[in-house]
Amino acid sequence: MIRVAMVLMSLAPVALLAQPNLDELIHKMTLEEKIGQLTQIGGVPFMPDSLTPEDRIRKGQAGSILWLSDPVAINRMQKIAVEGSRLHIPLIFGLDVIHGFRTIFPMPLAMAASWDMPMIERVQSIAAREARAAGIAWTFAPMVDIARDPRWGRIVEGAGEDPYLGAAVARAQVRGFQGKDMSAPDRLLACAKHFAGYGAAEGGRDYDSTYLSDEQLWNVYLPPFRAALDAGVGTFMSAYMDLNGVPATANRFLLQDVLRTAWGFKGFVVSDANSVKDLETHGFARDAKDAAYRGFSAGVDMDMASRTYLSNLGSLVEAGKVPVASIDRAVRSILEAKVKLGLFERPYVEETLLGKVLAMPDRKEMARTAAERSAVLLRNEGVLPLAESVKSIAVIGPLGDSRRDMLSMWAGFSVDLKNTGTILQGIQSRFKNAKVGYAPGVQVLKPIRSMFEDMLGSKAPDAWSAEQTRKEFAAAVELAKRSDVVVMTLGELAFMSGELASQSSLELPGRQQELLEAVAATGKPVVLVMVSGRPLNIVWASTHVGAILQVWHAGDEGGAGVARLLAGDVTPVGKLPVSWPRDAGQIPVYYAHNRTHQPETAEGFKSRYWDQASAPLYPFGYGLSYTRFAYSNLKVSAGSQVLVSVDVENTGKRAGEETAQLYVHQRAGLASRPVRELKGFEKLSLKPGEKRTVQFTLGKDELRYWSAQEKTWVVEAETFDVWAGGDSTAQLHATFEPRQLAGLK
Ligand code: NOJ
Repeated sequence: MIRVAMVLMSLAPVALLAQPNLDELIHKMTLEEKIGQLTQIGGVPFMPDSLTPEDRIRKGQAGSILWLSDPVAINRMQKIAVEGSRLHIPLIFGLDVIHGFRTIFPMPLAMAASWDMPMIERVQSIAAREARAAGIAWTFAPMVDIARDPRWGRIVEGAGEDPYLGAAVARAQVRGFQGKDMSAPDRLLACAKHFAGYGAAEGGRDYDSTYLSDEQLWNVYLPPFRAALDAGVGTFMSAYMDLNGVPATANRFLLQDVLRTAWGFKGFVVSDANSVKDLETHGFARDAKDAAYRGFSAGVDMDMASRTYLSNLGSLVEAGKVPVASIDRAVRSILEAKVKLGLFERPYVEETLLGKVLAMPDRKEMARTAAERSAVLLRNEGVLPLAESVKSIAVIGPLGDSRRDMLSMWAGFSVDLKNTGTILQGIQSRFKNAKVGYAPGVQVLKPIRSMFEDMLGSKAPDAWSAEQTRKEFAAAVELAKRSDVVVMTLGELAFMSGELASQSSLELPGRQQELLEAVAATGKPVVLVMVSGRPLNIVWASTHVGAILQVWHAGDEGGAGVARLLAGDVTPVGKLPVSWPRDAGQIPVYYAHNRTHQPETAEGFKSRYWDQASAPLYPFGYGLSYTRFAYSNLKVSAGSQVLVSVDVENTGKRAGEETAQLYVHQRAGLASRPVRELKGFEKLSLKPGEKRTVQFTLGKDELRYWSAQEKTWVVEAETFDVWAGGDSTAQLHATFEPRQLAGLK
């Protein structure tokens, strides 16, 4: 720690410019320069342009640059702004630093599965430290979109289905990125995105329309954004899709009524890439000028990538359609962010800084810890942990030795794959006394390439010939037969989730299921290690293989972390941040649904589907350990706050960590409320036989909800059920009535 602090202190760059007086600066700016500040352009070619980015910067036509990650290129562009433009206003460089910059941590949904907020904060602080050391001052993260549909590829990037957990993760990420002082050389400006409702895309198809009632918006989709704001997030990003028929990028309800009026947001809003121009595509704006008018007047301050403001806002001001005062307000909000970031005083980055930061000792260990704590043990029939004496291990499956697939698509901007360890490598170095063999068995190929694969330089492998396909499959089964235990590494490629990567099916892609069944038929104990950005169909595996460990795209140190989990050096602690569907036909499946008509337990209403259960394969909040926990003694007392306590005991033989969860249900009131809602969680480490009491406090924030009838927040003096346990099906139950809290908004 001390070494880390000393390195950063020694890096404080030389002061170049003084803090500006913003009134004076804005007064000096021409209209074109003002609109320039509202414009973000790509540092790499994205939209065809008659001018180079350098020319635009020189003319004061850009306030921000996106997608650059090289400090030398960043300084070169910054020099043009600071020394070669009329007003010397520094640029702010923005990038998608989603789960790491150079050190890649587990994908965000995986980190949410840790339910470990201090860890998530620490991870994002390391991401911030590395990105800022490259000259990036602004990350387009966290994505705080609630996602209840795993077909939607961007489920990988959020915290899952639940607003309470999502809010906690949002706060932790904002704190990690921004810290207390964004001008510090190791912090970044954060951006809560995509405001709002993007995760509810119809059919799980990325960018598709969302239709959300006010009830769903306020109670489910907005709380993580509100939490990000409460944690001090400096910027918001609008979303691509339309919400209830009005594109989010020109949605006054979202950007004015909610964000600025109800919530008092004072920072700035950036559009998504090209989404101002897209207002035309939506069939919403008549032309580009109308798009600029509608986006800007709804509250989007900065136009990302489309240059629609640059070409049109000037004439809109001259025509009296957009007041200069509105332009000045938007410009000021952007300049204020630059001031807070210290960019006027320290616009450049020391070009050797990143190297020094990467030499810091804590990052790799943190990446491994994060991978270990994000994995979720879904099944274990006594197979795990593997015996230390194991003589031979077969690692089988297409994801076992693939570096790129340890990362998500978002790790592409600054990735250096030689830092990434695979699961095979992790197992080889952890189990030194065992013979470790590897066979991919089958190939997973993406049927179509996305533009991101091209943009991020990801190469498609050559498809195997029919002969090789047959040989590889047979070799994998043979390897299983020769080994004591099989670690099957199945799942999906990194580019199968993320942006522009929705899927209609949750089946294991390619011939992976066939391979799994053939290997299991050898009778050897099988541990299925699932590498994926979303839940996939593992119904067969859930009854046929000995153990299932969901490790997601676990990052640079994921291979080492997985090996330590398999060996039992660490005990799994992850809990699902999403309900795990049996297959795509069950979607949406989420635990906090309402009870309508008859419950499934009622006679004659056994299942809503006649062909399968409507409960998920694994419930929200679920995850096993190498030990067991028992809950008892649930007590509730309702006064000015509701106090809940429960005893948690480690009844197994190993030390372990449990995430105790608290769920409530309001039995009657102005609305029909979800059958259960998470309202508290607490992590505790327990030695074998140790018992501890966990306390939860429920106040108005936990018990209120937004009533569609009253059009406001209500807390009602009704009977509430409360459950405590290790997942969302917890059985230990009590009731209470929050009489003293009723009426509070
Ligand atoms: C589009 C994505 O929707 C958004 O999340 C991202 O930040 C921008 N592109 C910039 O890369």
